[in-house]
Amino acid sequence: MSDYERDAVSAEADLDERALEGALRPRRLEDFVGQERVREQLSLVLRGAQRRGRAPDHVLLSGGPGLGKTTLAMIIAAELGAPLRISSGPAIERSGDLAAVLSTLQEGEVLFLDEIHRMARPAEEMLYVAMEDFRVDVMVGKGPGATAVPLDIAPFTMVGATTRAGLLQAPLRDRFGFTGHMDFYAAADLELILHRSAGLLGVEVDANAAAEIAGRSRGTPRIANRLLRRVRDYAEVHGDGRLTRETARSALTLFEVDGHGLDRLDRGVLEALCGKFRGGPVGLSTLAVAVGEEPETVEVVAEPFLVRSGLVARTPRGRVATPDAWAHLGLAPPPDAAFGAAAAADSAATGTAGAGGAGKTP
Ligand SMILES: Nc1ncnc2c1ncn2[C@@H]1O[C@H](COP(=O)(O)OP(=O)(O)OP(=O)(O)O)[C@@H](O)[C@H]1O
Ligand SMILES: [Mg+2]
Repeated sequence: MSDYERDAVSAEADLDERALEGALRPRRLEDFVGQERVREQLSLVLRGAQRRGRAPDHVLLSGGPGLGKTTLAMIIAAELGAPLRISSGPAIERSGDLAAVLSTLQEGEVLFLDEIHRMARPAEEMLYVAMEDFRVDVMVGKGPGATAVPLDIAPFTMVGATTRAGLLQAPLRDRFGFTGHMDFYAAADLELILHRSAGLLGVEVDANAAAEIAGRSRGTPRIANRLLRRVRDYAEVHGDGRLTRETARSALTLFEVDGHGLDRLDRGVLEALCGKFRGGPVGLSTLAVAVGEEPETVEVVAEPFLVRSGLVARTPRGRVATPDAWAHLGLAPPPDAAFGAAAAADSAATGTAGAGGAGKTP
């Protein structure tokens, strides 16, 4: 890997930031912004269980970093009025670690296992049984004489979180009665989150500033909250502390986050693609040399968001800048720009989908 350290628009948080985030977490389902479908489904699951007076189904939350999985896990416990135990896949190295947690759970307790895809395999097998039968098999003795002694545990609710649902073994995945898939947030939802966070931080943010920050937050509440803190710092030093569109723009320009949420590396890739390779197609390693980074960095760090934003397309012949990429850089594509084929195919596909969708509406 390279030493490129993403700062302002990283979806990941370090320990310091996680501490700051605690204060901004919504505590109840009704304060959790966006993710309507997950929220409604979850609300039904929880209310149904409460009506029956039983622990709800186990819940799996999957989605990228910073989209609210930990927040939602805490909300589940709060909504159930149940105590919450927190652990994580990497912290459970042996099945004994898990047995220790499971055997001390109280009835109805919520067990939150973060990064559940990183749990050791023997522990995972113990977890299947615990989730299904509320039982752990404790091994007594060693060698051929060892026997498994079943131990009943209190009925609990398991909440697992993962950024990589695909890495979960099917038997584990199947034991979750409900899976919530967290998506990127719409700008309007991020604006609501920003207004709420600003209130908690005691800063004044006007609608234009919130819109400006939301547009640069890559659909991710964590990034939105981080950019808000940067803009607040800037406003305190350079202004009267109030957040306006102007302060937001100046602050985020200073931190090298552009109007679309691209940072220095993302823009470098885009500028190389358009400036040096006439929009491509160009191979990954050639592109990486042009921006002075490892191919892996370009592929893993920069590309996913560029592709998700529709600025870059991956084609069998290499990376291609889309018309939006040229527009974003404020450049006119050369007449022979290579996006012709890719973009034509793309818009043909979208066109068909659009027509199909329109056909259904009377
Ligand atoms: N729907 C939301 N409404 C309001 N704030 C949110 C929402 N989702 C996330 N946040 C805020 O974003 C920050 C990050 O959220 P959280 O820690 O829950 O993400 P995560 O999915 O657990 O990330 P990771 O995969 O890195 O653990 C928190 O400060 C949280 O308050
Ligand atoms: Mg988390």
